[in-house]
Amino acid sequence: MLRVGVLVSGGGTNLQAILDAVDNGTITNAKIEVVISNNAGAYALERAKNHNVAAECVSPKNYATREEFNEALLDKIDSYNLDLIVLAGFLVKIPESMIAKYRNKIVNIHPSLIPSFCGVGYYGLKVHEAALARGVKLTGATVHFVDEGMDSGPIILQKAVEVLPGDTPEILQRRVMEQAEWILLPQAIDMIANGKI
Ligand code: GRF
Repeated sequence: MLRVGVLVSGGGTNLQAILDAVDNGTITNAKIEVVISNNAGAYALERAKNHNVAAECVSPKNYATREEFNEALLDKIDSYNLDLIVLAGFLVKIPESMIAKYRNKIVNIHPSLIPSFCGVGYYGLKVHEAALARGVKLTGATVHFVDEGMDSGPIILQKAVEVLPGDTPEILQRRVMEQAEWILLPQAIDMIANGKI
């Protein structure tokens, strides 16, 4: 049984997709042991509690330095003896110590077809604003292993999504979530849990 931790910062729709996928059998051989957020107000934590999953907050506001926060985050993660860490809209840079300790055990969902519209400054709506500004006809989402770079680790899965006339960043973001993110992340977790990656 794969022990999974999910790191979140916001609304948690990707987390919800993971929780629902475990419930409906799309994900097998895995258990969501904990949801950890840097943001005490993240609705994702409510989603975890509603699902009887441990919900923890490790906030940078509670530590004098970034180094102390990084150490507290890693200690919290270590305490759950996780086999896989899933970044589902986690907006904090992962410390290099954590990447080294959990090499190829951290995955991230990014709302574009990497290498397009990724890297420093490309997160949330900004990704979709850039896609619309460039005029691409296809965008999508990518699940990848996390390495020391930003959105630069080995790609696991990708799924293309059409950009339609009249799309706003918000409309496009929702379509990419519905048609790609919420499908790919559970699929990647299930593949890892069942030795397919
Ligand atoms: C999603 O757009 C995801 O692609 C990005 O951050 C957002 C998280 O949304 N990594 P949610 O918190 O899962 O609703």
